[in-house]
Amino acid sequence: MRVAVLGFGTVGVGVYEMLQQAQELEAGPVLVRPGKADAPFKVTDLEQILADPRVDAVAEVMGGVEPAYQYASAALRAGKHFVTSNKALVAARGIELNALARENGAAFLFSAACGGGVPFLHNLSLARESDEILSLGGILNGTTNYMLDAMQRLSLDYGEALQDAQRLGYAEADPSADVSGMDALRKIMLACAVAYDKLPSDGLLNEGIESITAADVAHFRSKGYTCRLLARGGRAGESVSAWVEPVLLRDGAPECAVLENYNMASYEGKCSGPIVLMGQGAGRYPTASAVLRDLSCILHGKLYMFQVDCRRVAADNNCKEQIYYVRLPAALAGDLPVESAELDGDTVRVVTRPISVSQMHVTAQRLRAAGASLFFAAIGG
Ligand SMILES: NC(=O)c1ccc[n+]([C@@H]2O[C@H](COP(=O)([O-])OP(=O)(O)OC[C@H]3O[C@@H](n4cnc5c(N)ncnc54)[C@H](OP(=O)(O)O)[C@@H]3O)[C@@H](O)[C@H]2O)c1
Repeated sequence: MRVAVLGFGTVGVGVYEMLQQAQELEAGPVLVRPGKADAPFKVTDLEQILADPRVDAVAEVMGGVEPAYQYASAALRAGKHFVTSNKALVAARGIELNALARENGAAFLFSAACGGGVPFLHNLSLARESDEILSLGGILNGTTNYMLDAMQRLSLDYGEALQDAQRLGYAEADPSADVSGMDALRKIMLACAVAYDKLPSDGLLNEGIESITAADVAHFRSKGYTCRLLARGGRAGESVSAWVEPVLLRDGAPECAVLENYNMASYEGKCSGPIVLMGQGAGRYPTASAVLRDLSCILHGKLYMFQVDCRRVAADNNCKEQIYYVRLPAALAGDLPVESAELDGDTVRVVTRPISVSQMHVTAQRLRAAGASLFFAAIGG
């Protein structure tokens, strides 16, 4: 199967190199921007790829929703299989691309978009056929895991941990999608769609790690907790729950063993029990390996990860109740259902009674809108 590649950046170079060595796969032309075609295999016009009958599949590794969506649609209409590592594209337009792929008898696969090299979506897609997926989630963002781990083990403050992550190439110059939790949220959207046929597109909640301080981390350590940014999802009546937030885990929990920029994706099947997959969630070759795995799936007849009736829903995060740690100005503690509180000057560290995920996130948004500085994390698994 001959594969054209759209984009020749971090992942694109890896995909092209791996295609050159793969069995039953062949590297086709690579689309680059005008003025950048400095080798014969590089082209600047998508039409050259779409009109080429020797190209069977297109691997999109450019990023962004547009023009990736236009290019994906055109490739599928031309009957080419379509594989992508682009979570923003699949979260925004996955439903439309799935329908278009099926209309044209072409594949639409995107396992690199959730978990990088970790084969999370393929496992979920297979497991859901014979088992009920009770819940899913995990550490799906390597950048924030690196930062939280460095804050704990190297005693760095937030700014130092971010600088370190940028120096090592784990964080981009603009790290906002990672540190805000948005990157992990897009991934849990895709996982919910694969497991439950429901792509949560509204009502999602994400709390990132921008507000965590070295003092918070020292406080957690004194109590035997490790902080990780977790994405979570599950069935919620006719809808699904889907949210991202920092979580405090007791030492010994599996997530505490996930160090540096590693990912840990997990799901619980009614029959299988908990399944945990760990590995590199990003990087040139881990991500390229997931793109190649999708291409091999096509050769074996697996063409889709979304079912025909996969549809958008509003997420429902009201059902799940948790206990939260909240650090906030002491004067505002009355806005929370307080179980216990430790006063530290003008600041208070509250442990709440059980409250719903949405109540916690909405309360935090309201307090921040009124100018309060706070950090919160769910306690426990
Ligand atoms: N990097 C990772 O570890 C990783 C992991 C999982 C998923 N992903 C996803 O994989 C995708 C690519 O990531 P990346 O890290 O490889 O990004 P990157 O290094 O920025 O590479 C993207 C490449 O695509 C090119 N490009 C963008 N728009 C184009 C267009 N309209 N026509 C032709 N070329 C175009 C860019 O060219 P210019 O440089 O000229 O703009 C660049 O060479 C993203 O969706 C990302 O979320 C990445």
